[in-house]
Amino acid sequence: MSLREQTGARLNLEGISVNFGGVAALTNIHLEVFDGQVTGLIGPNGAGKTTMFNVISGLQKPDRGSVALGDKNVTRFGPARRARLGLARTFQRLELFGSLSSRENVEVALETKHGGGDLTAEGLLHRVGVTSDADRQVSTLPTGEARLVELARALAINPKLICLDEPCSGLDDSETRLLGELLRELASEGRGVLIVEHDMDLVLRICDRIYVLDFGEIIAVGTPDEIRNDPVVQSAYLGTVAPEESADR
Ligand SMILES: Nc1ncnc2c1ncn2[C@@H]1O[C@H](COP(=O)(O)OP(=O)(O)OP(=O)(O)O)[C@@H](O)[C@H]1O
Ligand SMILES: [Mg+2]
Repeated sequence: MSLREQTGARLNLEGISVNFGGVAALTNIHLEVFDGQVTGLIGPNGAGKTTMFNVISGLQKPDRGSVALGDKNVTRFGPARRARLGLARTFQRLELFGSLSSRENVEVALETKHGGGDLTAEGLLHRVGVTSDADRQVSTLPTGEARLVELARALAINPKLICLDEPCSGLDDSETRLLGELLRELASEGRGVLIVEHDMDLVLRICDRIYVLDFGEIIAVGTPDEIRNDPVVQSAYLGTVAPEESADR
């Protein structure tokens, strides 16, 4: 579908390809994320998930294809301009100001947020379930807690679309369950949520729609039930990689 035929999606990737030297990291990707839904992106290690997030957030220029946020073609926009259009993301390898406190990390984002709103650092940290002292230096936090601080910072811009790259890695079972509930809640507020996650139980439980990526190509799209029962997905992913991944944590 061309960008001129709008689908009403919050995010629309069309024909995205990215090559790193001889490696085809992404090949002709089409993907849509809708407001009010949690969309999942799964696939084995090296499938191209983080590369896709980098293309979405403007950190990686695609060799081909286009990115639209709402009805705006943002393919040539940098990350800051995309953030002003309501796009927030978190990082697989955590990107926080380590020498600042949790509160300060969120305050930095609050100061740059577009629009008004009555969001506060305390309110956001509470919302994501950060239980440690808000004045504690972020570099001293356990990974799980730091991930939640990063999510609070992402929410500080009151995003229309939030992209989370493996938000549950480092979280224990009860933190993971709470995060799942929070992501559903963010969607029910009308936001688009896109999540990359290896925790299949979580993905199958909270997503409305799931894309399966393998060697840079989308091999399946569907509801959790469709994905669970797809023989191609089972052989490429669910049957092999998922159990090892969960055993890793
Ligand atoms: N900056 C880069 N330069 C060269 N190759 C890269 C670069 N970034 C990623 N790649 C390669 O592109 C492919 C996709 O990597 P990517 O990190 O997007 O996968 P992923 O699905 O996020 O994997 P994981 O589940 O391990 O996080 C891999 O083969 C990776 O080695
Ligand atoms: Mg990755």
